[in-house]
Amino acid sequence: MNQQFTPVMSLPSVYAERRARLLAQMDKDSIALITTSPTHIRNRDAEYRFRADSSFYYLTGFAEPEALAFIQHPQLLDGDEVQYGLFCRERNREREIWDGLRAGTEGAEARFGADVAFKIEDLDALIPKILMGKKRLYVRLGNDSEFDLKISQWLKNAVSTQRQGGSVPIEIIQLDSLLDEMRLIKDEHEINTMRSVAQISAHAHVRAMQNVKPNMMEYALEAELLYEFMRNGCQTAYNSIVGGGENGCILHYVENNAPLKDGDLVLIDAGGELDHYAADITRTFPVNGVFSPEQKALYQLVLDAQLAAIDAVTVGASCKHYDAVAVRVLAEGLVRLGLLKFDQQHADIDALIKAGAHRRFYMHGTGHWLGMDVHDVGSYKLNDDWRPLQAGMVLTVEPGLYVSPDDETVEARWRGIGIRIEDDVLVTANGADVLTRDVPKTVEEIERLMQKGRAA
Ligand code: GLY
Ligand code: MN
Ligand code: MN
Repeated sequence: MNQQFTPVMSLPSVYAERRARLLAQMDKDSIALITTSPTHIRNRDAEYRFRADSSFYYLTGFAEPEALAFIQHPQLLDGDEVQYGLFCRERNREREIWDGLRAGTEGAEARFGADVAFKIEDLDALIPKILMGKKRLYVRLGNDSEFDLKISQWLKNAVSTQRQGGSVPIEIIQLDSLLDEMRLIKDEHEINTMRSVAQISAHAHVRAMQNVKPNMMEYALEAELLYEFMRNGCQTAYNSIVGGGENGCILHYVENNAPLKDGDLVLIDAGGELDHYAADITRTFPVNGVFSPEQKALYQLVLDAQLAAIDAVTVGASCKHYDAVAVRVLAEGLVRLGLLKFDQQHADIDALIKAGAHRRFYMHGTGHWLGMDVHDVGSYKLNDDWRPLQAGMVLTVEPGLYVSPDDETVEARWRGIGIRIEDDVLVTANGADVLTRDVPKTVEEIERLMQKGRAA
């Protein structure tokens, strides 16, 4: 798989358009303050690689640490009309030798579209002044306690200044409620980026299928995925799961340090992150390239459930509907295969599902919103009802079956088999557009690809 993808380019206008859409929902005399993620120490003075806060990046395209943006209806600030201001690290020759280049305040204005930019060190001095004359403050509270504390200090300082005249915000509004709804419906730039990261991630899964061998370590297989992500400019969107055999039954298995055994399946849940957008793909395939009869039976059942659920992703359908479709297919199949049984209290499928009997083998939901965050923002309910799907939403469809290795209620031949199949789907007026379709998922396609990989 030698194809490489061209980098995604984001124009400043993409972010300006989002800021304008946010502003259109904000009252006059209001201001939004949004900060990026804090940095975190990994060990002693070595930091985790910085990753900007998703909502901050969504509005700014600015990926450096230590930054805060403010957005307001155009207003004079020291003689300049300002709608969008950015606080950021100033350029600093010595620090740049150690840590890399910075945009600085000049770059923030010239390259990132800020009407005005200030040094991050000036936050405490300038924010109370910027808050003056505003009645409402849109802010995200509860994400970063240091920032929450700063907000209360700035408001307090603004009130002291107010004695000399002017107003300060008296209402605080959760900015997330506006931003999450915006982020839930993807714009054209986001859809293009998500198509790219889905394709790159699909190719990474293909590479893993082609390179797996009995006795290989799980982490060595993970390396095949990482190679494909990184050579195409991606980070990982979350810790990759590479679980052989019964490790595939551990939903958040990330140790990835066991040998892959001949005769076992391996479950890989891994996705790249490109320009802050995630893919989230799971495939399950035989380590030796051929499914056993039990593996094949359960795999086919999960696939049937997944295909039925994908068909149920249509504009206007409740966002819970595709989960219900998957659960029904799985429950019926489990009865057919003898893993679930009717009894006097549960004499039909509806009764089994209502009692949650399938949950012993399928204990998670069938999907979630996907975007900048792997489990992306956006509420699933509106006024207590599951919300209808809309064009532009992106979600995962990921049914699975996990038969615990010590489940004595089923025949021994089923035990320790864990299977999930996960694709990323864009909701369109014409139904589901499967962004991750480049990675095979039928039994025949997988076995054929793996045989080819072996022959090569
Ligand atoms: N990879 C996380 C999930 O599938 O939800
Ligand atoms: Mn996943
Ligand atoms: Mn997922």
